[in-house]
Amino acid sequence: MHISLILASVKKNSEVLLPSLTFAATANAVCYAGAVPHFVDSEEETFGICPQKLDSYLSHIFDIQNEVCINKKTGRQISAIIPVHIFGHSCKIEDILEVSRKYKIEVVEDAAESLGSFYKGKHTGTFGKLGAISFNGNKIITTGGGGMIITDDKQLAHQAKHLTTTAKVPHKWEYVHDQVGYNYRMPNLNAAFGCAQLQRLPEFLQSKRELYERYCEQLSGLNGIRLIKEPSGCSSNYWLQTIVLDEPDEELRNIILTALNEAGLMSRPAWTGLHKLEHFKESPKMDMKVVSTLEKRIINIPSSSFLCE
Ligand SMILES: Cc1ncc(COP(=O)(O)O)c(C=O)c1O
Repeated sequence: MHISLILASVKKNSEVLLPSLTFAATANAVCYAGAVPHFVDSEEETFGICPQKLDSYLSHIFDIQNEVCINKKTGRQISAIIPVHIFGHSCKIEDILEVSRKYKIEVVEDAAESLGSFYKGKHTGTFGKLGAISFNGNKIITTGGGGMIITDDKQLAHQAKHLTTTAKVPHKWEYVHDQVGYNYRMPNLNAAFGCAQLQRLPEFLQSKRELYERYCEQLSGLNGIRLIKEPSGCSSNYWLQTIVLDEPDEELRNIILTALNEAGLMSRPAWTGLHKLEHFKESPKMDMKVVSTLEKRIINIPSSSFLCE
C-alpha cells in the first residue's frame, strides 16, 4: 500500500480518503507516504465506503482548483481515495470510481482481504490505478508475510519492482541507486509457499463458501442477527464470516463474544473506528453515523478454510 500510494503520486501533506472501518495498516500506509488520513463513513450492505455519502460530503467540503481537488477547510489537496473490500466482500467500487472521476481523485484499492473476490466478474484490486493484496498469515493464502501490488500499467509495475528492491539501477557490478528505495522484496522461499498455495486457491474458496452455507443453515431461524452474505452481483471469498446484530447493542455483543471465546470459538468484534484512535484524533473526518453503530453490531466468527469438516 505504501508503494502503491507513492506510485499514485500521493504527495507529502496531501490528504487521502479512506474508511474509518478498516485495519490500521490502511491508514498507516497513508502516513508512511507523508500524507494525512481523512476518514469517511461506511454503508451497511458491504461495510465499504458509502459512495452517496462521499459524493455529498465532497460537494460541500471540496473545491476543484486547477484540476486538483482541494479541501476548503485545510487547504490541502486530496490526492487519493482507498476503497477497502472489507472481510473479503467487494465494496461498491463502480460507484466509488464514479465519485473519484467527478472530483479528479486517484483510486488505490486495499484488496488485502479480498483475493478471490469479484465485483461483477472483475477481480477486486483491479479497478484502481493500483491495488494491493496481503499474504499475511491470516489471509486466504499466505507467504508468512508480505503481499502483492496489482496494476495493468507496465510502467507502474516496473517502478513498483524498482522501488521495492532498493531502487538499484540494473548493472553487472556497480551499485547505483537512483532514489531512496525500500527493501520490500519478497524472499524466494516465501514466494514459493505462495505459488504452491495459489494452485489450491479454488479449493480454499470453495471450502470458505461451504462454511458460509453451513453457518447459514445453523443460524437460520435465530432472531436478532443476520449472517453477512456476498453483495448482489459480486462473488466473495468469505475471508471472514460475520454476524451482525439487528440493533447496535455493545453489551449484547460483548456477552456473545465472551461466550464464544470461553467456548474456544475465537471470535472478534470489528476494528475500533480508526478516527477514534489517539494518534488519528486530529485527522479530518466526516460524521461516522454508520461506523459508530456497526462497531456495536459486528461479530466475526471462526472462518478457517479447514473448519467446514
Ligand atoms: C484491510 C487491510 N489492509 C491492510 C492489511 C495489511 O496487510 P499486511 O498484514 O500484509 O501488511 C490488512 C491485514 O493484515 C488488512 O486487513
